[in-house]
Amino acid sequence: MFRDLRWRLLLSYLVVMAAILGLFGTGVYVFFSRSLYRELDKKLQTLAESAIPSLSEVQNKGEQYFEDVNRVSWQDIFNRDRQSVEWFDTEGQLIASKGTLKIALPPRPGFWTIKRLQQNSQIRTFTIPISGNGLNSNSPSIDGFIRVSQSTEEIERIQSQLLWGLGMGAVTTLGLVGVAGFWLTQKAIEPVEQSFGRLKQFTADASHELRGPLTAIKASVDVMRNHPERVHPKDAKKLAAIASATSQMISLTEDLLFLARTDTPGLTVGGEKMTIALDEVLEDLVELFEPFAQEKEVALKYRELAAISIYGDPAQLSRLFSNLIRNAIQYTSSGGKVIVRLMKNNRYAIVSVEDTGIGIAPEELPFVFDRFWRADKARARREGGTGLGLAIAQAIAMRHGGKISVTSRLKMGSCFSVYLPLTTVVTPSLPAKLQREESLQEVRAE
Ligand SMILES: Nc1ncnc2c1ncn2[C@@H]1O[C@H](COP(=O)(O)OP(=O)(O)OP(=O)(O)O)[C@@H](O)[C@H]1O
Ligand SMILES: [Mg+2]
Repeated sequence: MFRDLRWRLLLSYLVVMAAILGLFGTGVYVFFSRSLYRELDKKLQTLAESAIPSLSEVQNKGEQYFEDVNRVSWQDIFNRDRQSVEWFDTEGQLIASKGTLKIALPPRPGFWTIKRLQQNSQIRTFTIPISGNGLNSNSPSIDGFIRVSQSTEEIERIQSQLLWGLGMGAVTTLGLVGVAGFWLTQKAIEPVEQSFGRLKQFTADASHELRGPLTAIKASVDVMRNHPERVHPKDAKKLAAIASATSQMISLTEDLLFLARTDTPGLTVGGEKMTIALDEVLEDLVELFEPFAQEKEVALKYRELAAISIYGDPAQLSRLFSNLIRNAIQYTSSGGKVIVRLMKNNRYAIVSVEDTGIGIAPEELPFVFDRFWRADKARARREGGTGLGLAIAQAIAMRHGGKISVTSRLKMGSCFSVYLPLTTVVTPSLPAKLQREESLQEVRAE
């Protein structure tokens, strides 16, 4: 239980840390990418502005202008391998170009990013319209355009390096957080685990201590009831009430003691485990509950679809199945049916107890295995239930490496299925049979 909690806590801790790191990484990535592009835009703008005076010369001389490249003002900041400068006339027709980047699109004023499909890269461009008196985009008479471009390969390379760095950093941090988180959750759970252990110990001790005096009360009351001549007739009813309440308290303390012990991992509860023929256990139990079913006018049937032996504690398994069969009969009105089935699949022996009783509402189904939970508390108390029967059944199934599940429809009936891991089929040995007899006697005594 606490191991699960520890892992769940650690997982939530890691998920929160991963979300924070993800958010932080995205922030850093976006911030750096934006500043890289801003820097590039500034460079392009400076290059375009310094090339403005050259437009009239290019318009006059054409490509010949470049022959005396030492003269041009923008040459110092121009990188011919990564950038290009293009001159356009008023109509947007290319007059001349410098640099290796080729763009087939007409000039469009402002900053643009163009995708190059073949190279799978991008080009950032800045186009400036030139009016008669230089840089004035609002002027109605445009002399031409200058477009400067640069490939964003360099930025993309830095971006992917950044992404790698951030990714590796996040993974390393998460690893460290995982180790630290494991230690922290261990530390955080320790006191809870200790106080839970103390609570369990208290329940076990209290139930154990209560058992003695209660048994003494029951014995005294039984003695008094065996001699009715010594009891005042007016007190006979009170005595019967005391006897019934005492029996109920004894079974409650025993149930609590059992649950407190099953909660403690490593503690063996009940007798030794051995190979048990499930079909025989169920057959005997059905026979045992027959009078109770007849009294309630409920038809109790047993269907065996496979003879199965499993490895387990016979007393505990009898208790598990008798809790289910008793519930099925108890919560089915007269004229109803209870069917106990034994089946198997390739991993489990499956025992199902199906009834045509009152059923359980869908919103209440998740709670049926909770301790002290009862659908109709007033009626259940009248019937003497404590609400621990199914919790005990589940604890036993889990102790045997199995599970228990329920399907139910209100006013239609319920079906409880117990899954127990299969073992190799062995004929039950004599001691196993004897122990089964003993466990049945225990159930009978309840
Ligand atoms: N077959 C069933 N059909 C309908 N309701 C059921 C059935 N089995 C259990 N329940 C509901 O689940 C509740 C819990 O069952 P559980 O066996 O744990 O306690 P209980 O029968 O009330 O008391 P006890 O501890 O004596 O068994 C019951 O009170 C009942 O409301
Ligand atoms: Mg019950």
